[in-house]
Amino acid sequence: MNKNIVCIGAGYIGGPTMAVIAKMNPDRKVVVVDIDAKRIAAWNSRNFALPIYEPGLVDVVKEVRGRNLFFSTDIRKAVRECDIVFVGVNTPTKMFGRGAGRASDLQYWEATAREIKRFANCDKIIVEKSTLPVRTAAAMEAILNAGTEDGAKFTVLSNPEFLAEGTAIRDLLEPDRVLIGGPDTPAGRAAVAEICDVYAGKGGRWVPRARILTTNVWSAELTKLAANAFLAQRVSSINAIAGLCEATGADVDEVARVIGADRRIGPKFLKAGPGFGGSCFKKDVLNLVYLCESFGLHTAAEYWSGVIKMNDHQQERIVSRLFRAMFNTLANKKIAMFGFAFKADTGDTRETPAGYVARLLAEEHVRLSVTDPKAIENGKRDLADLEGVSWEKDPYKAAKDADAVLLMTDWKEYPALDWARVYKSMRKPALVFDTRNCLDAKALRKLGFKVLNIGR
Ligand code: NAD
Ligand code: UGA
Repeated sequence: MNKNIVCIGAGYIGGPTMAVIAKMNPDRKVVVVDIDAKRIAAWNSRNFALPIYEPGLVDVVKEVRGRNLFFSTDIRKAVRECDIVFVGVNTPTKMFGRGAGRASDLQYWEATAREIKRFANCDKIIVEKSTLPVRTAAAMEAILNAGTEDGAKFTVLSNPEFLAEGTAIRDLLEPDRVLIGGPDTPAGRAAVAEICDVYAGKGGRWVPRARILTTNVWSAELTKLAANAFLAQRVSSINAIAGLCEATGADVDEVARVIGADRRIGPKFLKAGPGFGGSCFKKDVLNLVYLCESFGLHTAAEYWSGVIKMNDHQQERIVSRLFRAMFNTLANKKIAMFGFAFKADTGDTRETPAGYVARLLAEEHVRLSVTDPKAIENGKRDLADLEGVSWEKDPYKAAKDADAVLLMTDWKEYPALDWARVYKSMRKPALVFDTRNCLDAKALRKLGFKVLNIGR
């Protein structure tokens, strides 16, 4: 019999992951639950006004919602009726007490463990989907299996998620690999086989077996942190080279192209820009730093801290260069910020470089007009405390009478704009600072713009 699934946490991970699991396993019932009733209502909305924007997501939800995918706030019922529980709740950086600013805040995760224990009435497989510090599964097991000698038994696995926002559906449908970590016990091996079946999909039509990698639980938990740290490190490394390119006349995109042609290095994650954002890179690298420190590995902790330091520096450098290019005074000047999401194709603004830059510009009393195709609602909430910030759906309106356009997100809409029209409407001299190197700088200069780039 196919086992039914519940996922606790209906966010960026829970929603898309479970939608694709339901699509590829039409004979399993999949229920996604959350304590946030508004979020669940959005997932259930008649007009498919889903709580997150992700290309292709609506189509998958249209196909499976009501067929074998359900969204609910009734955690008790969902836990009682399932065999497999995925835990996809948030694990943000802890902002208080021990490990403040570095460790993971595990309160939502622990509340979930206690909820499962309270409601479960039979044996269950518990799957950590959230990103967690190494050895969290041991704590999960200790909570779940304490005082239930005659009751339900729980087997805890780690199945971290590697999808990236903006490409989540493609990443889920065709993952490079799926990782399942489990204990080397009869129950552990059976549980791992069960989750392998979920990812193989109905009739073996989803993830090829060779791409489903199994490890012990601790390797799986640590692999997730290490994978994000390696990716973040590549971004900081190329950004560190970018500053040197600006000082010497080298071009960072040319350097990256040639470095990436070495098959040992590869071409991906070598794009210089405003630094990495998103909910996970910073949080996960900080978590790794905290773990290293906890185990007395201070030099390793310092090494990984450098990745974050370089990233913060990149955003400060953007403001310094803008300041110098605009005659060392920004007060009362209008700057149009093109893009607020942390990357294109998402409305997510968590840890977005644009947010940090906006705050630094506000200190200089800039009048900021921000435009973004998908992130205005989240951005308004993020910058609610700042004065002098306005939001504009239409980039042409945002740029009107501005002294500079500061491009922060590489939305494909921006290279396609009528830049002659933008130039005409701006105050002169008109500056474009393209922090993603996605515009045709030569063509802009021809129109009369002064142009700044990263790493050129
Ligand atoms: P999110 O904040 O979008 O979603 C988490 C959801 O969990 C929220 O809707 C929240 O209301 C819910 N929740 C919290 N406590 C709960 C409880 N006790 N019972 C029921 N629901 C509860 O976060 P996210 O971006 O989906 O990330 C979740 C986890 O996945 C994190 O650990 C993150 O590191 C990891 N992850 C995220 C991504 C990504 O692309 N966002 C990728 C890989 C891994
Ligand atoms: C990242 C990882 O890529 C996923 O594998 C992982 O599952 C996820 O974190 C997570 O754990 O949450 P995500 O943050 O959604 O995914 O997006 P990325 O494509 O990795 O981009 C992260 C940031 O780095 C963005 O701000 C992006 O603009 C920046 N970046 C990326 C660069 O500046 N240069 C690059 O070459 C690549």
